[in-house]
Amino acid sequence: MKKDSQWWKRAVVYQIYPRSFMDSNGDGIGDIRGIVSRLGYLRDLGVDVIWVCPVYQSPNVDNGYDISDYRDIQSDFGTLDDMNELIEKAHENGIRIVMDMVMNHTSDLHPWFLEARKSKDNPYHDYYLWVDPPADGSLPNNWQSHFSGPAWKYSEECGQYYLHIFSSGQPDLNWANPELRAALKDILRFWLDKGIDGFRLDTINFISKVPGYPSVPGAKGLVRGSQFYMNGPKVHDYLHEVYEDVFSKYDIMTVGETPNVTPETALQYVDEERGELNMVFQFEHVNIDQGKTNKWDIRPWSIKEFKSIVSKWQKSLGEKGWNSIYVSNHDQARSVSRFGNDERYLKESAKVLCTMDMTLRGTPYVYQGEELGMTNVRFENISSYRDVQTLNLYKELTDAGVPEHDIMEKIYYRGRDNARTPMQWDSSENAGFTIGKPWIDVNPNYKTINAEAELADPDSVLNYYKTMIAFRKAHSVIVDGSYRECFEESDRVFSYVRENDEEMLFVVLNYSATKFTLQIPDDVDMDGAEVAVSNIGRKSFSGRVLDLRPYEAVVFLKRK
Ligand code: GLC
Ligand code: CA
Repeated sequence: MKKDSQWWKRAVVYQIYPRSFMDSNGDGIGDIRGIVSRLGYLRDLGVDVIWVCPVYQSPNVDNGYDISDYRDIQSDFGTLDDMNELIEKAHENGIRIVMDMVMNHTSDLHPWFLEARKSKDNPYHDYYLWVDPPADGSLPNNWQSHFSGPAWKYSEECGQYYLHIFSSGQPDLNWANPELRAALKDILRFWLDKGIDGFRLDTINFISKVPGYPSVPGAKGLVRGSQFYMNGPKVHDYLHEVYEDVFSKYDIMTVGETPNVTPETALQYVDEERGELNMVFQFEHVNIDQGKTNKWDIRPWSIKEFKSIVSKWQKSLGEKGWNSIYVSNHDQARSVSRFGNDERYLKESAKVLCTMDMTLRGTPYVYQGEELGMTNVRFENISSYRDVQTLNLYKELTDAGVPEHDIMEKIYYRGRDNARTPMQWDSSENAGFTIGKPWIDVNPNYKTINAEAELADPDSVLNYYKTMIAFRKAHSVIVDGSYRECFEESDRVFSYVRENDEEMLFVVLNYSATKFTLQIPDDVDMDGAEVAVSNIGRKSFSGRVLDLRPYEAVVFLKRK
């Protein structure tokens, strides 16, 4: 394959959360052989790349995002041989494979950390971030962990605090140490040499902390110290070094998870001339409902705001840099429940979101089950929940005296387990995910929302995804065309024109449950334009007055 062919710009990526995808041996946990068994489904869907969430050795405090051995597979998921087989079989099916790599932190059971905490003189001590206990007995600073409580934990063994932005089982690594960086680069090469096609780099903009770990000024109690550890002073030096020494030597794609970036700061990661990453995941649109403090502080939002964020990113990354397009993943609530309407207009609104993802400029990411219109879940009891972030929140708020009902509503709305219930394959027990007892309960709606039923229904969300993925591939204008927004002031319709020398696409998405009439603007050339895609079976159109149905999506195509 030609180097630097930028194949990832034309690709559609499918994200797999292995624990919940397909269980091959009845232990209730999805596994690598389960993924292998569903490669045909993925090939038929038309995706080009699978991104597999972490499958390395891990005590699973955070479901694999706490790695204890980067070079081995955790036994729940299978063996290294299974992984080699997955890589090979995926390639046989024309599917590339991207691994999720967590290098901001390890597990506290990683051998480096077990050594590091033994004493200040241990050779591995400096692989992590330590601070002497302040003389007044306070914590080193006021940073709050993303998973509740302080971001510091005292280690009796060496008499110092270590930093953990996430759970205490996820100590942050010290990227300022060149030996550590060399060790991490070796790990990247280890996997690349097995033939994988790239990495999704977890929380990669957290790797450089502001020296001295300053407290957030003027804050009461514990708060997120994001400005002191996201996009830190050395992050670009470190990433450029990894690019020079590793990434640039392979024909791969890299996408960094980067909360708290603006179009300007994101460009610093993805500008081709700088040599760092191919893409980042920005968070502005998925944090739209987030209040001032953290993700659980929920605020109202509007379609107009949502559109303006998406549009801003379309305009700023495109000619230079590149967008990743997504509305859901394993950390977010289900997209159709959040941005669509999972009751009356479940199918229609899931298709609206799909149409948007598949026609914007950038690489689209589909999260498992999104192609079925899988929804959020409301388990009655907290004992059905599994996510460390959710469980820590529940405890914190219960201790603070917040009523149970209010806590559960937050979890129903934004909890990560919404996205982690098992993939709904068919209407048999446990949705065909396992013959055993699933590690987390299935969403009770699997009897109607499932792959088998949807494959048989020409009008299903799943078949619409297939159509849209094929449509995206057939029209290079989606990859290389310009982007221009229409009806910017509307709080209901998201609409844009994509154009290159051969074709023009006019995309109209009704993000509301009301029908209304649109006058197509004069500067959209509808002469000879035809209905190329419709989520309600619209066949033809003429004139300039469009009567839109609730959650209607329509794409007009004009060949030049
Ligand atoms: C990322 C992952 C998330 C994980 C966290 C810590 O945000 O997507 O699942 O909990 O990093 O590794
Ligand atoms: Ca299993």
